[in-house]
Amino acid sequence: MSFHIRDHYLYCEGIKVKDLQNAVQDSPFYLYSAAQLRANVAAYTDALAGLPARISYAVKANGNLTLLKMLRALGCGATLVSGNELRLALLAGFAPADMVFNGNGKRRAELALAVQHGVTVNIDSEFDLEHIAQAARDADKPVDVLLRINPDIRPDVHPYVATGMRDSKFGIRAERLPWFLERLKRAPLLRLVGLHCHLGSTIKDVQVFHDAAALMGDLTNAVRQQGFDLRYLNLGGGLGIDYERAGGTPTPRDLLDALRGRLPGDLTLIVEPGRSIVGNAGALICRVIGVKRNGDKHFIVTDGSMATLIRPSLYGAYHHIGFIEPVNGETRVFDIVGPVCESADFLGKARSLPTPHEEAGLVVYDAGAYGYAMSSSYNLHLRPAEYLVDGDQVTQIRRAETFDDIALALSPLSVIMPL
Ligand code: LLP
Repeated sequence: MSFHIRDHYLYCEGIKVKDLQNAVQDSPFYLYSAAQLRANVAAYTDALAGLPARISYAVKANGNLTLLKMLRALGCGATLVSGNELRLALLAGFAPADMVFNGNGKRRAELALAVQHGVTVNIDSEFDLEHIAQAARDADKPVDVLLRINPDIRPDVHPYVATGMRDSKFGIRAERLPWFLERLKRAPLLRLVGLHCHLGSTIKDVQVFHDAAALMGDLTNAVRQQGFDLRYLNLGGGLGIDYERAGGTPTPRDLLDALRGRLPGDLTLIVEPGRSIVGNAGALICRVIGVKRNGDKHFIVTDGSMATLIRPSLYGAYHHIGFIEPVNGETRVFDIVGPVCESADFLGKARSLPTPHEEAGLVVYDAGAYGYAMSSSYNLHLRPAEYLVDGDQVTQIRRAETFDDIALALSPLSVIMPL
């Protein structure tokens, strides 16, 4: 087991997390389990066995270079949403042929980079198509493209993480498809090799993947009839994980079972999981600064905050919270909050927990996806370090940000205008 409690202490694989917290200076920090990461990839690999398929890990969920190298070694490709993610994926050793570049607002320079390296690019809109065509002409290089379809499917998730509904900013509506196909016939450097869709994130009802596969399968057949040689169907990411620890969350196998029989033949399926690969492989480890009471409300104040993990503040997301060591105070209902000057700064609300002592270690589980990746230095709390456990070895895989990092960026003031 990756993260588990033994004798009232949290362990990550063979490491007692309290020992690690005492050994390192930084707090809070992110902690990852290599075994969990491998198990999560294996769940996809096993589910996809026998199918022509590719796991295209969504780098945005967690772009730590060491983790990316591991994922590449485990056979994943990379789904990217910026030129810098592309550069990072190259650094991690991903082959450009195993990358897909997504996004509703790709910049010209980013497209030039993608074309230069031969990365497959998703077309998201009319202007995006024109920009990609221009980048291909500038480089005098053909580029493989996918068309991102807005499937108008409503998953039952927070509106901020639903992306495939009719009024969302991503992709093109199916009724515009004829226009895109006509335009592509006149763009000799753009080779349409497949369709793409992404419904949203934290999805627990695999029926919506079934609906998407049916729709995308029909569209693929229709586009093929127009003479396009489609070879890929990219159904995006979005599989939820068991944040609530309530059980019953669908697995990659459930996802694939929902798709089976719905996919046209002779196609390579691409899936773009992020959260279900890294989410439960990471935790945020904090220290309690103090405990306070305002009227009827009780607060645990930790050094972790919305700057370290913004998901609770931004989406009202639930993350399971506990202690990494024995804590014996009276059990109360607490809000777990950070030191940031915002009432939106909380990690958990109304949690029944024993009253901790100062300096006690506190863990926020399932923080491996969109945790560090969305962290900030708001209030000048410095971004945290990251550590990776593999068996009984711990490696620092990112140093904490320092005040000097921030001061450096502020130092060279230069007059821009008048010229
Ligand atoms: N593919 C595309 C085109 C995407 O837009 C996304 C995520 C993924 C794949 C990966 O989705 P996943 O398997 O991780 O759900 N910050 C939010 C999540 C935003 C996800 C946006 N797109 C959160 O913390 O929940």
